[in-house]
Amino acid sequence: MYDICLRTGASGEDATGEYRDPNLLGAVFVGPYVRLAPSLAFVGEDESGVAGYVLGVPDTRPFEKACEREWWPALRARYPLGTFPPNSPDDRILRLIHSPPEASEDVVERYPAHLHIDLLPRLQGRGYGRRLLGTLFTALAEAGAPAVHLGVGLANTNAIAFYEHVGFTVVHRYAESQIMARTL
Ligand SMILES: CC(C)(COP(=O)(O)OP(=O)(O)OC[C@H]1O[C@@H](n2cnc3c(N)ncnc32)[C@H](O)[C@@H]1OP(=O)(O)O)[C@@H](O)C(=O)NCCC(=O)NCCS
Repeated sequence: MYDICLRTGASGEDATGEYRDPNLLGAVFVGPYVRLAPSLAFVGEDESGVAGYVLGVPDTRPFEKACEREWWPALRARYPLGTFPPNSPDDRILRLIHSPPEASEDVVERYPAHLHIDLLPRLQGRGYGRRLLGTLFTALAEAGAPAVHLGVGLANTNAIAFYEHVGFTVVHRYAESQIMARTL
């Protein structure tokens, strides 16, 4: 799953080679979900094996607190600030580990769950994304979540079009990314 995260980590394209450490992206965007919310982690696979995943949590604030207790401390010890050249891609991820951004209050109030979805190219455009989201939505609703949000880079126009197509709308804008959300 860390490998899939890296191979889709440049606005949906392969980020291998952009990062000195191939595990950093996965350590932020995959690891805490699999560790802290394993029953809400689903993979897509074909005859060649696992090639995609969707990960979610039903309630973002408690998840942020659990990460602060159980996930970030070991990573901060392993990757101290200054490990990588300033402003390099690795350094920008490292700073997320040391100062994780909190979801904004207006978003978590209305859309408390959040998710990440990534499929390798060989699984894209075959209905896996829609099916994985459907599986996650059912599980999130069973866990009591009324609505879900996600973050997406503005450069990832494919993912934005996909999210719009499956019912998400923009609820918050940043300089280089936006938050999209929908009810469950
Ligand atoms: C974005 C992504 C999750 C979409 O999953 P997918 O399996 O390719 O999409 P699906 O085949 O399930 O498509 C579902 C529906 O969305 C539509 N859709 C998919 N991509 C679309 C696009 N770029 N524009 C418009 N509609 C799109 C499909 O036509 C399909 O419509 P239908 O079900 O009504 O027939 C997947 O392509 C992916 O992982 N991309 C790389 C990683 C990435 O960018 N992740 C998101 C990070 S925020």
